[in-house]
Amino acid sequence: MKQIIVAIDGYSSSGKSTMAKHLARAAGYAYVDSGAMYRAVTLYAMRHGMIADDGTPDSNTLAQALPEIEITFQVRQAGEASRTCLNGEDVEDEIRSLAVSNHVSPIAALPEVRHRITALLRGFGHNKGIVMDGRDIGTTVFPDAEMKVFVDASPEIRARRRHEELTAKGKQADYGDVLKNILERDNIDKNRKDSPLQQAADAVVLCNDDMSIEEQHKWLMNLFKLRSTDDSAHRD
Ligand code: CDP
Repeated sequence: MKQIIVAIDGYSSSGKSTMAKHLARAAGYAYVDSGAMYRAVTLYAMRHGMIADDGTPDSNTLAQALPEIEITFQVRQAGEASRTCLNGEDVEDEIRSLAVSNHVSPIAALPEVRHRITALLRGFGHNKGIVMDGRDIGTTVFPDAEMKVFVDASPEIRARRRHEELTAKGKQADYGDVLKNILERDNIDKNRKDSPLQQAADAVVLCNDDMSIEEQHKWLMNLFKLRSTDDSAHRD
């Protein structure tokens, strides 16, 4: 089996990261959560007063600060998922908050931010053997990825999943607020000028409204076996 790049894109809270992590573990591949990088930049902007009360980011100040923002992924204990660090500080829990979710899409729409994060993300793919999830992985970051999946589910189901996830972590969240945030982010992510959320022409679509995690994983593994043994999928 050859080493490939797997790009999993799709709507907010559609289960991309669960799928991507499962596949990475099963294949012995690295997993990279591109959304975590946009979230970390957003947290930095929030902490440094770069977001106005109406949610508009101060794009010039943030663009100048980008070289000072270092995002790394660290594993605390063998076998555990990696945690996102911002300038050396573990911010994994904070970046998942609804407060960060409420500001991330306008920040992720800024071309300077996208440019920088895209360059960092491409660096992870040099040796292939990687699963990356996000919004523009199959279209912009790795347009030649051998396997591309585009995940969708209804907004209500996605909001329910995210709400359950937040409450399981002991975070107070109102279902209505979560749904509102998901719809707003979908809208900004789909309509931004720079690398909007859209299905790559050669992506396989998975609508997982009625699928269990096990069914989803099985579906993904079948596609992975096909792509990683298919020589015609060699595009480099
Ligand atoms: O996990 P969830 O679906 O809520 O979102 P995420 O993957 O953590 O991404 C958070 C936000 O980052 C998205 O709503 C996008 O605005 C942005 N993002 C992006 O623009 N491009 C990516 N490749 C990944 C995330």
